[in-house]
Amino acid sequence: MSHLTIGNLKLKGNLVLAPMSGVTNLPFRLLCKRYGVSLVISEMTSSEAVVRQNPKSIERGFTCADERPMGIQLMGSAPDNLARSAYFLQERYRPEFIDVNFGCPAQEIIKNGCGSGLLRKPELIGKIIEQLSQTLEVPLTAKMRILKDFGETLKIARIIEKSGACAITVHGRTQKQGYSGKSNLDFIKGIKKELSIPVIANGDIYDEKSARHVLEYTDCDGLMIGRAAIGHPYIFRRISHYLETGEILPEQERGERLGDFFEYVALCRNYDLLSFNDLKLTAQWFTKGMENVKKVRVEINKTQEIDSIMEIMRGMDDRAPGRLPADEIIEQLERSDLQII
Ligand SMILES: Cc1cc2nc3c(=O)[nH]c(=O)nc-3n(C[C@H](O)[C@H](O)[C@H](O)COP(=O)(O)O)c2cc1C
Repeated sequence: MSHLTIGNLKLKGNLVLAPMSGVTNLPFRLLCKRYGVSLVISEMTSSEAVVRQNPKSIERGFTCADERPMGIQLMGSAPDNLARSAYFLQERYRPEFIDVNFGCPAQEIIKNGCGSGLLRKPELIGKIIEQLSQTLEVPLTAKMRILKDFGETLKIARIIEKSGACAITVHGRTQKQGYSGKSNLDFIKGIKKELSIPVIANGDIYDEKSARHVLEYTDCDGLMIGRAAIGHPYIFRRISHYLETGEILPEQERGERLGDFFEYVALCRNYDLLSFNDLKLTAQWFTKGMENVKKVRVEINKTQEIDSIMEIMRGMDDRAPGRLPADEIIEQLERSDLQII
């Protein structure tokens, strides 16, 4: 098994769950952890909002013992506020590392000069990384997108390394590409070749074979998986098993996948994170690709409340006798003593 290392943190394995706003909350990260992901990162949170003490933004750093090691991702452009918010989150949640976002392509983020908007300002990137790494006790990492030109992209990756980051994730798409088109593995490979810190490859990893291809082609130290994990945390078991043994595991049984959904709901209840809109989306994600799902989707779209979604999802649960029914999974989790630290 390969071990990804971040600062003095040696991980079991090399698979990382991508930070995804609106997806990778604590309950979802816990599910991925159960299926063997090596490392998880919070949804990005705004440094400006953390400095203003916005509770929702601060709470994005919520963690618990079962998901460690974990990192908190920050987004911002003012070095002072990034450092203040990072320090505050470090003291409050004791994450194993802090990550900075230099990749988000959303208009409302780049118009404030944050996310991938920073890729046009290499000097400011250097200042941010330097100030953060001097402020923090925990390791600092960065996640970036590529630019059109390889030389310019490498220049930024080098600045990130030189300024004190312990590892870097490279998403092989430009800001303009958003989430479409191919991830440029040649750029990722080129950056890996030139840097001494660990490089994590991101983009276009969706199954066992693509994972192995990206790992072998780029020679990177780790793989970060985003969209392929949405509604499918089991992907981490499949990919890690394949990378270790070369064997492809059977698809997850429908009942087990629904069990994951019910567990997600129970965890959300436990952490007071359950909302109707989130659940509606999550129910669709966890049933994607299942047989006869169209009818269920239409029904879910008509719902107005959480209970109705749950009823529809329970109706899909045709798991074999002997397995725990949905209600029992939920009850068991609700009785368990899950703690937030
Ligand atoms: C719904 C969604 C939300 C995302 N939110 C974040 C985020 O908060 N921080 C971040 O660095 N990247 C974010 N990303 C980008 C992913 O981390 C990842 O870089 C991208 O999806 C490419 O990986 P993939 O091809 O495996 O999906 C988001 C992507 C999606 C689809």
